[in-house]
This record gives sequence, C-alpha cells and structure tokens, in this order.
Amino acid sequence: MKNRNIFRISDLSKEDIEEVFRTAARFKKEVREGNRKFQELKEKTVLNLFFENSTRTRTSFELAGKRLGADVINISIATSSLKKGESLMDTAKTLDAMHVDTYIIRHSAAGAPQLFSKYVRGNVINAGDGACEHPTQALLDAFTMVEQKGTLKDLNVAIIGDILHSRVARSNIHLLNKMGANVTLVGPNTLLPKSFESFGVKVTNNIDSVIESVDVLNMLRVQMERQNDSFFPTLKEYSELYGLNSKRLEKTKKDVVIMHPGPMNRGVEIGFEAADCNRQFILEQVENGVAIRMALLYLTLN
Ligand code: CP
Repeated sequence: MKNRNIFRISDLSKEDIEEVFRTAARFKKEVREGNRKFQELKEKTVLNLFFENSTRTRTSFELAGKRLGADVINISIATSSLKKGESLMDTAKTLDAMHVDTYIIRHSAAGAPQLFSKYVRGNVINAGDGACEHPTQALLDAFTMVEQKGTLKDLNVAIIGDILHSRVARSNIHLLNKMGANVTLVGPNTLLPKSFESFGVKVTNNIDSVIESVDVLNMLRVQMERQNDSFFPTLKEYSELYGLNSKRLEKTKKDVVIMHPGPMNRGVEIGFEAADCNRQFILEQVENGVAIRMALLYLTLN
C-alpha cells in the first residue's frame, strides 16, 4: 500500500483491508499496553486539512501520526489564506512546496481530495468528502464488527437513518459488500431512495422488520447541516419511526452489536438507553479509529 492515495473503499482490495485490520490490531494492543511512541514515521510529515468540522477523525489522525513519530500539522481553515480567496489548487501547490508526505482532507465537496491530489506529490487520504465517502470510518466500523463477531462474512448488518446524506453509509456499504456481509438499509423514503438497491443491498422503510434478526445495528446521525428540504415532519416523529428507543432495544438479539459513527443526536436516532447500554461499542469505535489510522499511515508511508 506504500504511497497509495485512499479516496474510496474501491481503492482497497480485500487483501489490503485484511492487512489494515492486522496492522491496526497490533497497534491497538501496543497502545493498550502503554506503548504510545513509535519511530516508524519519524521523518514524515502529515498535514490535516479539514474544511468541515470534526472531533473524532481529525484528532485520531493527529494522534495516529504523532504516535508513529511523524510531525503532524493541523491547518486552521478559518485563519488560512483560503479565507482570502486562495484556491484549493494554489493551496495544494503551496503546501507541496513544503514537502508534506501525507495530506488528510475533509471537504464538503465530493471529489475534493482527488482534485487536491493532482497538485501534490504526497499521498492523500480522504477524511470525508461531501455525501460521497468516508473510507477510514468504514474501516474502523468493520474492524469493530470483526473484533466483536469474528468475521464479516455472512454477518447481517443494518445501517439505519439518513442514508441519503451519509458518506459513512456509502463507504460502509462498499466495504461490507466486498467482505461478504449482508447489508440492509433502513430509513424513510425521503432519506433512502430505492436507487440504493443498485448497490446490492436490501432496502426497507420498516425498522421493526429487521430489529430482531440483525447482528449489527449501525445507527446514523440525522445530518441537519446537509438538509435544505424537509425530509420528515418532526424530529419526534423521526425518532418514533426510526430511532433505536428502549422498546426496540429490548427486541434486539442478546449479542447484537450497536454502533454509531458519532456525533450522536441522543433522543433522535438513538435513545439514551441504547447509547449507554452494554451492547453499544461506540467508544470502542473511537479507540479503533486511532488504531486504523495508525495502520493506514504506517502502511502508506513506511
Ligand atoms: N465519525 C466522524 O467522522 O466524526 P467526526 O465528524 O467527529 O470526525
């Protein structure tokens, strides 16, 4: 995987994904044992360029780079020359002149990481582009599923909520399909067009038809910031029809794995009881996010 750009899940083969998981498992174990400083990337520079807000992805890439010994720089978009009108192309050329090895990019426009990569010599990793893809989130989600269930093969995974605006859903669908899981998408028609069936997944509007049988429930955030139209009447109705409330929680399999990429809208897509129950692995996902990003930086730079 050396010097590889990672824009989409399609940039990774099944073997690449398995290698990322093996490497992440090794780093996770080391970090848990207290080894938090490695030297593998000590002459490398990683640059975080986030045009959209982030807590988990930006911090975990920063931690991942620092734990591997790299210099990590966070560009503040608000105080950068982008605010004076400098284009993405000229920003890329400027940063390239400073010999950066890897760029981590989040942008509201689909395809922005690919565009950026045309003007730099370093690798680019997509940290979320519009509603298109968020490949590192899908890797950490799938890694969490493998840890809890042993394999993705034939695992029954429901992805529930605002599918339309979700780059997490798209990357999850592609990765889970590649690894042989059975994916069902659940949401209101307005947030889950029938066209998603072309991805080779099941599509339903009825959460109660899947709640008792699935192995994994991945609850997605309702993305208010991407919604210009009204996709459902009220948040209360959305929550009643599609939220993981305590009544639905009772019906799940005893060994169900409850996930959420964060940030959560508690009381909307996930109730307080589900968000804090002993079947949720939401903070495990966060921990795995650091390990997965360490693995990706290590494999693409070392
Ligand atoms: N899951 C995710 O991408 O979270 P952040 O927006 O906090 O990075």
